[in-house]
Amino acid sequence: MVIFGIESSCDETAAAVVRDKKEVLSSIVASQIDTHKDFGGVVPEVASRLHVENVSWVIDEAIKQSGLSWDEIDAIAVTQGPGLIGSLHVGVQASKTLALLFDKPLIPVNHLAGHIYANELVTEMHYPLLALLVSGGNSELIYMKDETSFEVLGETQDDAIGEAYDKISRVLGQGYPGGPVIDKLAKQGEAIYPLPKPKAQGEYNFSFSGLKSGVLQFVQREARANKEWKVEDLAASFQKVALDEIFDKVRKALDAHPEVQSFVVGGGVSANSRLREIVKELEKEYPDVTFTVPPMRCCTDNATMIAVAGEIAYELGRRAGADLTADAAMEIC
Ligand code: KG4
Repeated sequence: MVIFGIESSCDETAAAVVRDKKEVLSSIVASQIDTHKDFGGVVPEVASRLHVENVSWVIDEAIKQSGLSWDEIDAIAVTQGPGLIGSLHVGVQASKTLALLFDKPLIPVNHLAGHIYANELVTEMHYPLLALLVSGGNSELIYMKDETSFEVLGETQDDAIGEAYDKISRVLGQGYPGGPVIDKLAKQGEAIYPLPKPKAQGEYNFSFSGLKSGVLQFVQREARANKEWKVEDLAASFQKVALDEIFDKVRKALDAHPEVQSFVVGGGVSANSRLREIVKELEKEYPDVTFTVPPMRCCTDNATMIAVAGEIAYELGRRAGADLTADAAMEIC
């Protein structure tokens, strides 16, 4: 099957053509990061307008670079949610137009499922599977007993982890997006400053807002006391607590589910170098589990993952009509 995927849930307008869930024939991503940098974060109204500006050429370029004609596309898959409502609408409208124009089946796809299935592009996924989703909008630990069932074991009770990286970076005057900057600073520092350990309710839930306040209070306290501190050490201290919060729960879930065959990661924070090292350490601790952190091009928002998820949804018989609407708070499915 050849699926044309469209993604526009946040600040990337993306289109891709993927054959049989494995072969990427084209993948175009128009990122808006440079525009949102000026505002210190994604501005939803600006994002929607830029999607409108970009969506047509991104689609044109994806079909052109695939070397295929529309006749050779079997179906159109689109992110229905979750995400920013105005942003989602642009992709949904574009996909409906293409489906109508070229008489193709239209498949609604969940963005989070897309992040998990992105791993199909680089590895064989075996079930039961544990997936960790860590991005600017989500932090979730998901158990899948088979390819199509999603049980959310835990999720953030406040900020997403990527959001915490972005906010800390702003507090430290390091710009947006914060993840890559904090990651780099943390590598040059040591986790020597005491920061509050998150206290999320529930066995597998996460919390990052107390940690974020802890960093802010540390900066204010040191300033009041006229004390010197190193931004690299503070970045390392924040990152240690944030990743411990995630991986304490991951270990707990792996211990509670010895039947798990594969562990996969998705979302922009999977680019984090320390996170990748920790996954390598887990490989030794749990030799019966296959661990995968996909390459960067698959981690951040893109449309190849939507095309892969689209083929799986197609096989399940999922179809949408001209009445398809975006769903900003869509549950994973
Ligand atoms: O999945 P993604 O591209 O889209 C959204 O959810 O919007 O993730 C973006 C997030 C941002 O919060 C960014 O700061 C974070 O991923 N990120 C990182 C790193 N690279 C990107 N966080 C930690 N370390 C990184 N190296």
